[in-house]
Amino acid sequence: MSNSVSEARGSGRAKLILFGEHAVVYGKPAVVAGLPRGARSVARTAGADTSTITLRSADDEVMADRVVSDPNGEPLAASFHAILQQFDARAPVDLDVTLEVPVGVGLGSSAAMAVATARAVGELFGEPDRVDDAVRASEEVFHGNPSGIDQLAATEGGLIFFSRGERIEAAPVEAPPLTLAVCQAGPAASTAEMVGKVAARKRREGQLVDYLNMLVGDTARTATEALREGDWSRVGELMEINHGALCALGVSTAAIDAACHTARQAGALGAKLTGAGGGGCVFALTPDGADEVLAAWKKAGWEGFEVTIGG
Ligand code: MEV
Repeated sequence: MSNSVSEARGSGRAKLILFGEHAVVYGKPAVVAGLPRGARSVARTAGADTSTITLRSADDEVMADRVVSDPNGEPLAASFHAILQQFDARAPVDLDVTLEVPVGVGLGSSAAMAVATARAVGELFGEPDRVDDAVRASEEVFHGNPSGIDQLAATEGGLIFFSRGERIEAAPVEAPPLTLAVCQAGPAASTAEMVGKVAARKRREGQLVDYLNMLVGDTARTATEALREGDWSRVGELMEINHGALCALGVSTAAIDAACHTARQAGALGAKLTGAGGGGCVFALTPDGADEVLAAWKKAGWEGFEVTIGG
């Protein structure tokens, strides 16, 4: 190790994709917001000759406890193994991660965890320049072929326009503050499986799926302007268009559609799934406050929370 630190900390943000999930994997633009919470990691020089990882919930309940030995083992240990491999020091580390968002529901828990962990390990080993590669290696374990949008939001925060065409393009979106309501409408789902589902539809329906991805990308581009201008009714309409395309790509569910419908009936200007779909979270556009949508969701059995982005 090139420094004498024996304990280091890092944090990473969860995210909310406002526009463009799935199509972003095919090089189309997307808009993402980093959330104020995500994951916190503490890395310590290990007491034994193998690394360990302990994963805790926000209320300090241990969700998993692993010895990290098998690079091809279950994803949590394998992702930490992939992170450690990116650093020259390669010394054993005891890692403690606290997740402040639920896992697998579209809020970018894996990227938040990877950024928090890679930052902590980078500081422990005195190799901060390896952090981005380490996060990418971890995301590949969870997602197979990640677009990089979750990694960017987890690292940078703020509201960001993102596109990975021939080269990666990322720019902050200066928008007035905007209140959103978020709820978990369905169970956790695997991002890799949902990305695979879209890929299978694309293999069968080629051009039709290309049209849908193009539509989603154009929606994200137009929405970037509407967000900058604070034109919330247009942003809401574009959310509806984006959600319709995600339904056509096959990644929505009955519960997600029902939660979107409930939000609109309670006054939201728009509602859509966020992230990979197949379950997980929905968000609604509530510029005048999220209370009514949150109450309607609660009545229907969905717990939600309010978040402010932009500004
Ligand atoms: C997952 O948060 C977003 C997806 O577009 C996958 C990716 O961009 O890597 C579904």
